[in-house]
Order: sequence, then structure tokens, then C-alpha cells
Amino acid sequence: MIYLNGKFMPIEEAFVPVLDRGFIFGDGVYEVIPVYSRQPFRLTAHLKRLQHSLDGIRLNNPFSNDVWKKILEQVIINNEGEDQYLYLHITRGVAKRDHAFPENVLPTIFIMSNPLLQPSQELLKSGASAITAVDNRWIRCDVKAISLLPNVLLRQLAVDVHAVETILFRNGFLTEGAASNIFIVKEEILLAPPKSNLMLPGITYDVVLELAEDNQIPYEIREITETEVSIADEILLTSSTKEIMPITLLGNKPVGDGKPGELFKRLHALYQEYKA
Ligand code: PDD
Repeated sequence: MIYLNGKFMPIEEAFVPVLDRGFIFGDGVYEVIPVYSRQPFRLTAHLKRLQHSLDGIRLNNPFSNDVWKKILEQVIINNEGEDQYLYLHITRGVAKRDHAFPENVLPTIFIMSNPLLQPSQELLKSGASAITAVDNRWIRCDVKAISLLPNVLLRQLAVDVHAVETILFRNGFLTEGAASNIFIVKEEILLAPPKSNLMLPGITYDVVLELAEDNQIPYEIREITETEVSIADEILLTSSTKEIMPITLLGNKPVGDGKPGELFKRLHALYQEYKA
């Protein structure tokens, strides 16, 4: 069952008018929230980032955090599966097509739950492949906007060559993946690009840095060059749906020795322990 504008219904019965500004302009924001053992993970942080995204597009938050929590609880109850991921989507609503914000229009609010599938054991053992590309997105990548056309095109570049992700660089510096954050390991130090308007402040990114801090894993948050990525000992990918994944092939060059590295193994184990 999905949630649409205050009602629960089967997804087949859920429709949005064609004049919805999400459909016409991509005028909206979204969140993806993992649910483990039927409990939302880092919910407060996700709701805080939702508020940041709404502020970024000047759309009022339709609900208080308490109301969001109650609705999301209901979505989880209405869906099977111990582990799920919630997709929450808010647009500026339905109005005559005009770029200017409409007045007195209610936002469209849509929430669905899907099964949260762990990356396969095979993928965790052998690692995944990635390619690189120039980050040609807008400069408000900190807003989780539903207008994802550049991300879609960038991700497809990877899919076209059977890779899982496209790692992005702006002016020669690492930003993130098409739908993930990227870390590298250099001389046993975990390196993370600093949060800015050029990347999404990932909730999993925060978890990984907290795990590093709490477990005496040396880390640095600093600008990372494309050259550093190309000669990294390890490359790690994080997102709410993929957790932590090792990238072992970049283009057609192995990363480090071409196998998931020690720091990946450690952080992955710590993450599994932490989320339980
Ligand atoms: N994407 N950067 C981008 C561009 C993303 O789309 C995502 C997540 C992340 C990782 O953020 P988090 O750890 O909070 O999931 C970074 C989600 C999963 C998606 O669009 O499906």
C-alpha cells in the first residue's frame, strides 16, 4: 500500500494529475529512508535533510516531524518485509503550467515502500566496477531534488558498460557518485570529500565517518583530486539502499589489488553491527 495525499491505496490505484509540477517541471524533493527490522534508520537525520531540501526549493514542509513519523510508521505497518526502504516525494502540487510558483495550491505527497535488498554476497566479495565522468549537474546538489535527469544520464553511462556507478568530478575534484557518496582509502587513511553545495550530504556518509571516529580508524575530510581517486588503495561507495560497497574496478583498471580492501571489510562489518 502506498500513501498519496492523506490516503493509503494499492499502487495500481494511485494517480497524479498530468499538471502536477513534479511531472511538468520536476518541481519537488524526495528522501529515501532505509527500514531495518521494521524500524526506520536515522529517521531524524532524514527528516532534517528533507527540511533542508524543502527550504532549498522554497516549499513549506506540510507536516511536523511528529506527523511525518506517524505517517511513515503507518507506511511500514501497511507493507510487508522486515527490511524496506521508504521513498518519500513532495511536489509543489497541481497547477496551470506556469514557471512561477502557484498560489494556494496543496503539495502532492507520495510515499511508497519497497523491499530493501542487500548487495549480494558475490558483489561484496568481488567488488563492483565504476567509471568516471565530469559532474555536469547544477550547483545545488545538496538539495535532494526529484529532477534527476543529469543523474539518470550519468548513471546510464555506467550501466552501458556494465558498471554499477559513475564517479563524478567537478574541476578535477571528487564530488560523489550519480546516486551515492564516494570515499577513498590512501595509505590506510579514509578520505571523504567535504560536504558542500556540490554533493548530497549523505546520511550513510555521516554514519561511516562516525564509525571511523568511534573505532579509531584514521580519516580526513578534504578535497580529493581525480588523480588520487585513480591511484587509490580502496574506493568505497555509500548510500541508503547499498549501504557500503567496495569499488574494485575503475574503468578497466583494478583499484588497489583489485579486491575489496581491509578498510572496506572493517567498515562493512561495523555498519552491519551498528544497524542491527
Ligand atoms: N540516493 N548522493 C546522491 C546523488 C544520491 O542520490 C544518494 C542517495 C547519496 C547517498 O545518500 P544517503 O546515504 O543519504 O542515501 C549521495 C538514493 C538512495 C536514491 O536516489 O535512490
